[in-house]
Amino acid sequence: MSDSSSKQVAVVTGASSGIGAVYADRLAARGYDLILVARRADRHEALSARLTEAYGAGVETITADLTRDTDLAAVEKVLASDPRVSLLVNNAGVATLKPFAQTTAQEAATQVALNITALTRLTQAVLPAFLAKNSGAIINVASVLSIYTLPVSSVYSGTKGYVLNFSRGLQQELAETGVKVQLVLPAATATEIWDLGGVPLASLDQATVMNAENLVDAALAGFDKGDELTWPSVADEGLVENYEVARVALFAASQNGRPAPRYTAG
Ligand SMILES: NC(=O)c1ccc[n+]([C@@H]2O[C@H](COP(=O)([O-])OP(=O)(O)OC[C@H]3O[C@@H](n4cnc5c(N)ncnc54)[C@H](OP(=O)(O)O)[C@@H]3O)[C@@H](O)[C@H]2O)c1
Repeated sequence: MSDSSSKQVAVVTGASSGIGAVYADRLAARGYDLILVARRADRHEALSARLTEAYGAGVETITADLTRDTDLAAVEKVLASDPRVSLLVNNAGVATLKPFAQTTAQEAATQVALNITALTRLTQAVLPAFLAKNSGAIINVASVLSIYTLPVSSVYSGTKGYVLNFSRGLQQELAETGVKVQLVLPAATATEIWDLGGVPLASLDQATVMNAENLVDAALAGFDKGDELTWPSVADEGLVENYEVARVALFAASQNGRPAPRYTAG
């Protein structure tokens, strides 16, 4: 990718498959140059060649394991030093779907390192420049499991709950700036994450599964509308509103400095 290009640059983590590969395609189609980050160089090469051919996009690929500190530091450095970066899609994620009691320490640590630590540090890498120019956007890919748990999702849901709260706090912090943060909450989407995570995609009720193209197109439609939270598969916006109202009311009800009567003797 030539530094002399005047195009803006979008960074997509986890672009070697699934949702991230579709983000890369759609953002190249929108005229961005790209920095793609994942471990599988062969996938990167094929995608990069296709996007350059189809859209004339300049594509830089970084082969990095974002759970490794040295790799993450190298990616941070690239992001922090390229003034053309105007969009970060924190998409790379991993799910190990099994009971916590059967989850190894390494499996838990990997989910935390990728889904939480890498997302946080890459956000920190781009934010100073975004604030300095008072523009830029961060898209954080969370999950409907940010607000819901399954007996096999304690760590994964925990990491995605972090992404939800981290993004919300950041949205509040940046509200008076030109920097935007969109939180995307996909439900089941047809990607490799399921088979890799121990729950075969084929075992899901296929009526509940969206394809990655529809997911990303809906998420980007939400981005274009200025959504802070995008629930791509939720048709009834009233449910989202009710959830917000209940969340805020519950917090407000906690602000009274005394135990609830059900917890006091007599
Ligand atoms: N699919 C769903 O049902 C669903 C639902 C809700 C949310 N999400 C979220 O959507 C995001 C994308 O997932 P997906 O469904 O598209 O899954 P996917 O097809 O498995 O893609 C995951 C991507 O993350 C990359 N990745 C994994 N480990 C990595 C590491 N250590 N370092 C760098 N990159 C790494 C993978 O590339 P390499 O293997 O080449 O490194 C791949 O490009 C994730 O955050 C996931 O939690 C997915």
